[in-house]
Amino acid sequence: MRIYVAEDYKDMSRQAAAILSAQVILYPNSVLGLATGSTPVGMYQELIDRCNRGEVDFSQVRTVNLDEYIGLPSTHPQSYHHFMQSNFFNHINIDFSQIYFPDGMAKDLEDECRRYDECITNLGGVDIQVLGMGHNGHIGFNEPAEFFTVETHVVALQESTRVANARFFDCKEEVPGQAITMGIGSIMQAEKILVIVNGSDKAKAVQAAFAGPVTPQVPASVLQLHRNVILVGDREALNGLL
Ligand code: GLP
Repeated sequence: MRIYVAEDYKDMSRQAAAILSAQVILYPNSVLGLATGSTPVGMYQELIDRCNRGEVDFSQVRTVNLDEYIGLPSTHPQSYHHFMQSNFFNHINIDFSQIYFPDGMAKDLEDECRRYDECITNLGGVDIQVLGMGHNGHIGFNEPAEFFTVETHVVALQESTRVANARFFDCKEEVPGQAITMGIGSIMQAEKILVIVNGSDKAKAVQAAFAGPVTPQVPASVLQLHRNVILVGDREALNGLL
C-alpha cells in the first residue's frame, strides 16, 4: 500500500484528483468505481475544474457507483444517483449512458444485485475504485459483520451509519434502513483502489483498517489483502499510521 499524507482536506482532494486524472488521461475509456459521502466532494470539484480547463476528458469513461439507498428514486435529492449528478456528472463531459448504479427501486432486489454484478463484469471490471470510509470501518455499505460478503447485496444499515448520514436528511427517521452495495469481492476485484480519508473522527477507523487484523468486523481491513491500494489522507485521519 502507498500512503500519501495530505496537509488538509483541499490537499487530499487535489492529490486524489491528480491520481484519477492520470488514470483517465492514460486510459481514456477507464471504468471508474465511484463513491459518495462528504469525503469525495472536494475531489469531484477538483476534477470538474480540471475538466473545465481542458486538462482531462471524461467523454469515454464508464462509471459504476458503489451503492444506493433502497426506496429512494434516482431523482430523490438524497439518492446517491442524484448526489453524483449534482456533485460531478452534471459538470463534466461524461456520456450519461455510461453511468451505472444499482437500482434501489427495483422490484426484485436479489435480481438487481445479480444484474449489477453482471453489469460490472460486462464492463470488464473496475480499473480504479474510489473508497471513503465509515466511522465503523465500512466501505460502500459493507457494514461490520460476521463474514465478508463477496457479491453485490442488500444490507441493513447500522444505527450508527444512519445517524452519521442523517445530516443529509431532515431527520434520522428519513434515512433509509437498507441499501444495495457492491460486495467486498466486487470491490477487491478492482485493479487499483484509491482510499480517501480526512478528519480526526476517521483516525480510529483508519488505524483499525490498516494497522489491525483483517476482520469482517472492520470491513476496510480486507484492503490489506489488495495488491494495489493508494491511501490519501490528511494528517488527522492518518494519525494512527504515521
Ligand atoms: C456512506 C457511503 C460510503 C462513505 C461513507 C462515509 O455510508 N455509503 O461510501 O464512504 O458514507 O461518508 P463520509 O465521506 O461522509 O464520511
